[in-house]
Amino acid sequence: MNKFYITTPIYYINDKPHVGHAYSTIAADVLARFHRQLGEKTFFLTGTDENSQKTVQAAQKAGKTIEEYADSQAKVWQETWKKLNISNDDFIRTTEDRHKKVVTDFYNKVLQSGDIYKGKYEGLYCTGHEAFLTESDLVDGLCPDHKTKPEKIVEENYFFKLSSYQDKLLKYCTDNPDFISPEHRKHEIVNFVKSGLTDISITRESIKWGIKAPNDSSQVIYVWFDALINYISGSPEEFWPADLHIVGKDILRFHTVIWPAMLLSAGYPLPKKVFGHGFFTIDGTKISKSLGNAIDPVELAGKYGNDTLRYYLLKEIPFGNDGDFSFHRLQEVYNSDLANGLGNLVSRVAKLCENNKIQSKFLKIEKAEFYPEIIKYLEKLEFNEALSFLQREISVLDNYLQDKKPWESKVDLEEVFNTLVDGILKIAYNLNPFLPETSEKIEKIYSQPTILGIQPLFPRITG
Ligand code: MSP
Repeated sequence: MNKFYITTPIYYINDKPHVGHAYSTIAADVLARFHRQLGEKTFFLTGTDENSQKTVQAAQKAGKTIEEYADSQAKVWQETWKKLNISNDDFIRTTEDRHKKVVTDFYNKVLQSGDIYKGKYEGLYCTGHEAFLTESDLVDGLCPDHKTKPEKIVEENYFFKLSSYQDKLLKYCTDNPDFISPEHRKHEIVNFVKSGLTDISITRESIKWGIKAPNDSSQVIYVWFDALINYISGSPEEFWPADLHIVGKDILRFHTVIWPAMLLSAGYPLPKKVFGHGFFTIDGTKISKSLGNAIDPVELAGKYGNDTLRYYLLKEIPFGNDGDFSFHRLQEVYNSDLANGLGNLVSRVAKLCENNKIQSKFLKIEKAEFYPEIIKYLEKLEFNEALSFLQREISVLDNYLQDKKPWESKVDLEEVFNTLVDGILKIAYNLNPFLPETSEKIEKIYSQPTILGIQPLFPRITG
């Protein structure tokens, strides 16, 4: 049996989830559900990145101890995914002992490979990024993303010999052309690696919160070095290497340069694929706390439904591209595809079944499978293409219904209802990874002994 191990980034806990975070998680959830439905042994991991200075600062601001703050925030993230019907198999927190143990072992393996040395570090550190920036990254002396002045740090640190892995990384990319996706981002990364890698500092001296370096208890392991290892600490051993890391484009470099080099050094096989998706704006503006447009995905799903949120995000923006989240478009897509498309077909046919006293046990329903097109699109993470394909299948059935006019009773009703119900159930099966709640409802409607009319699945939104 094939296995499939998929991950999301682990999220910083200084903030509550916004719809941008939900995007990574929903995309991973669709794929996890798809692979489970294919019968593969699937493991889907998400979690929280807690050993960051952001946690320390946010706890101070909230007037809580760091531990209390981390516990309450981790709960917020866990509950958010539950409410959004995310089917993760585990949730890893980097403050858990199981994680600390694996990080310590991993660090020791890298140490044994001779890839860690002590040196002096001088640089500009941005807590927002949890990374060093160079002078050329700054705009007017500030980090252009966080609009904060980076801290000048001069410390004795331990360094990781990233520079030794340049050729091995390039070879891995050549031998595994699908390792980094999408293609245009792969070129960026390959060019970056070709331009020369420098060693990176992987411990911090002045920091107290985090996992202690096993070779020097005065140092704490760099939060990215620690965080990346969650993919190993959070999954059963037999699932490694990961089949797919879903990440945002902002953190693709960490996952396709530093992470594979760390794994090579520690002697682990490398992940099969890393996909860097795009970012979206909200009604044309960047998502930001200060602008107050950081939409709470739970609120949004409460208003429109979990399935609507999933559908809109994945249909509207080709995965891998940047895009815009617009309430106007959300309503348009909802009305055209879900209310007038899928919802209308399911209701109309259910009502006709009721009028004609159709009993499900007399229908000849084939066991549903994925359309080859859906398999092809989902293997390439082309969610929008998969959904457009299913929308066309809905139109085919709509046209069939319009053509046969079973309400006029001039056609072979048994054959017409067989075709309609069988077609709808096939579509529901294929939509299941995207719209799990709706798909389940549709299956229930058509498996009742006598099929009855229903309330609309997606009442039209006006205004
Ligand atoms: N903690 C690190 C990841 C460590 S993984 C070993 C981190 N966390 S984060 O909470 O800041 O962001 C995680 C992810 O959220 C980003 O990579 C990206 O996938 C997603 N997004 C955050 N804002 C987003 C948008 N505006 N649009 C789309 N995705 C966004 O980075």
